[in-house]
Amino acid sequence: MYIFKEREALIKYLEPLRQENTIGFIPTMGALHQGHGTLIEASLKENDITICSVFVNPTQFNKKSDFVKYPQVLSDDILLLEGLKTDILFTPSAEDMYPDGQENMRKYDIGDLEFVLEGEFRPGHFQGVSYIVDEFIQIIKPTNIYMGEKDFQQVAVIKKVLELTQSKTQLVSCPTKRQEDGLAMSSRNMRLTEEGLIKAATLQRALQHIKQGQHEKSFKSLLAEANQMLMDNDFELEHIILCNANTLEILEDFDQDIPMRLVSAAFMEGVRLIDNIAI
Ligand code: PAF
Repeated sequence: MYIFKEREALIKYLEPLRQENTIGFIPTMGALHQGHGTLIEASLKENDITICSVFVNPTQFNKKSDFVKYPQVLSDDILLLEGLKTDILFTPSAEDMYPDGQENMRKYDIGDLEFVLEGEFRPGHFQGVSYIVDEFIQIIKPTNIYMGEKDFQQVAVIKKVLELTQSKTQLVSCPTKRQEDGLAMSSRNMRLTEEGLIKAATLQRALQHIKQGQHEKSFKSLLAEANQMLMDNDFELEHIILCNANTLEILEDFDQDIPMRLVSAAFMEGVRLIDNIAI
């Protein structure tokens, strides 16, 4: 595996290869797990060259403490990427990714997507994500970009960014990889204690509880039951929201005529975990 730390070196290396090869790209913030592995494997199957980036993007953290505590384990990441036979790892510096400074980063008109659901609780987050993914796309110009459905709104945001920039890159979204107990795989799980890790699976169970009750009870009463399940397992709920899966418009109650999605965030041992399921 080749490791590039500077954008110019990567651009120069890829230039002669572009004509004859398709490029698959997986953006990550490192602390790689099997969920990332699934995205990398999909890219390896469907492209001639697979590039993974590891970059903890400062502008998408709305809390400095969350940024500082984000797990950084580059040597483990390299082992996992080499094991999967990834072709290229790109791990740039913040200076390289923000040549005009972080305060002057480009802004994207992603409409309501910026402010609804996750956006309401994480001001600025989706602007940071839009900038960094677009910047990577401008450097790598991938044929396909692979993203996980665990970050449901992020997938919608990047779809919008690709539209706005009239990019030729195709977005491939892959289903959430889960542990046996249902817990969605996440780099943040690394920050949990053994006990926290076991209790964390309650978030998925709470979402399933709402899904299973949809024909008998209102969303409001199922939400109250789900919240109780979470509290009994030491979770602090931030939100569970029912929305239209296509537009992300918030729904007050179940509507069987449209595709629905349940999106959620909750804190376990101070770590913010997210999950979502189709209804
Ligand atoms: O999903 C993530 O890990 C990040 O939001 C991403 C897409 C790598 C951008 O920093």
